[in-house]
Amino acid sequence: MTEKFSEIIHVGRPNIGDREAFLQLVGEMFDRRWLSNNGPLVQRFEQRIAEYLGVRHCVAMCNGTVALEIAIRALGLTGEVIVPSYTFVATAHALHWQGITPVFADIDPATHNLDPEAVRRMITPRTSGIIGVHLWGRGAPVDALSQVADEHGLALMYDAAHAFGCSHQGRMIGGFGRAEVLSFHATKFFNTFEGGAVVTNDDQLAETMRLMRNFGFSGFDNVVYPGTNGKMVEVCAAMGLVNLDYIDTVIEANRRNYHAYREALAGLVGVQLMPYDEAEQNNFQYVIVEVGPECRVTRDQIVDELHRHNVLARKYFWPGCHRMQPYRDLYPHAGLVLAHTERVAAQVIVMPTGTTLAEADVARIGEIVAGVVG
Ligand SMILES: Cc1ncc(COP(=O)(O)O)c(C=O)c1O
Repeated sequence: MTEKFSEIIHVGRPNIGDREAFLQLVGEMFDRRWLSNNGPLVQRFEQRIAEYLGVRHCVAMCNGTVALEIAIRALGLTGEVIVPSYTFVATAHALHWQGITPVFADIDPATHNLDPEAVRRMITPRTSGIIGVHLWGRGAPVDALSQVADEHGLALMYDAAHAFGCSHQGRMIGGFGRAEVLSFHATKFFNTFEGGAVVTNDDQLAETMRLMRNFGFSGFDNVVYPGTNGKMVEVCAAMGLVNLDYIDTVIEANRRNYHAYREALAGLVGVQLMPYDEAEQNNFQYVIVEVGPECRVTRDQIVDELHRHNVLARKYFWPGCHRMQPYRDLYPHAGLVLAHTERVAAQVIVMPTGTTLAEADVARIGEIVAGVVG
């Protein structure tokens, strides 16, 4: 049988705003000969992100992973930090890379976000903090996590790499915890090629992170901190500014595709589309399908069939960080306390969406799934 798509359909194919506007900004940048080091485009970009999210500070960085590392260090985390295993591996690596032990807590299978009671069970005398992840752009249980953090004197921050443009309990994600980390990687619905940021309402923390991302320089010859190089460059900020003007179009395309998936997959036994709470603001970036035990075929059979038709649907975040190195060696028995993580990781499929995918394409993807599920 021939493939339903002649070209590969990717998850996270970049959304690209007005090219002319981008080239105009790049031209001005060349005229100024100011390419990096906190240039005017980065400053404008930071201001617009802070305004969009309603936070006091946006500290733009070269990517989300370095933004995580800098936020972790600026918060003074040490020893052990509790994170979900069901996340992109960078959440754990950002800790490990700095000699901090990520301790994995289980998730709520209904939301795929950290279960606060599971977090509580993983606290030891060495625990210094918690990093919640707003997985798939759906807000983590912020109130219960702050309660756990406050009770035990732990710092609480969020990996909000999926959640730019999303609200939770009516508030924009970005203002929860001590700091929240964004990723603007090319595959995110909003991109700056590569890029990231830490957003916070804490003036002192923002100041520390600005020093850290620029080698600890305070003035020309004065280093006051052992910093790193986490700076965003001007060309990335130009992309960000242009894509900020395009963001509503992208969200609308994602929303339309999400509804088209709802329709295309309705009634398939054992195949559930994870809902968005439409009372919140959503970026509709992650179209999550769960294949339950009632389904006639396995998750992997569906993914294989999609791939055969050139639809590169993904098994994020299988098999979970605890089954990747170095955590597999560190915690050979972690699966015992991560039952929900293991089950969810084995049943999720992430579907393609974005501005380059038409509603009719979604219908065809639905036909492939229906064909194999029967
Ligand atoms: C949950 C999560 N955290 C962290 C990152 C790392 O961000 P970046 O790729 O910008 O370094 C990503 C995505 O790439 C992510 O999905």
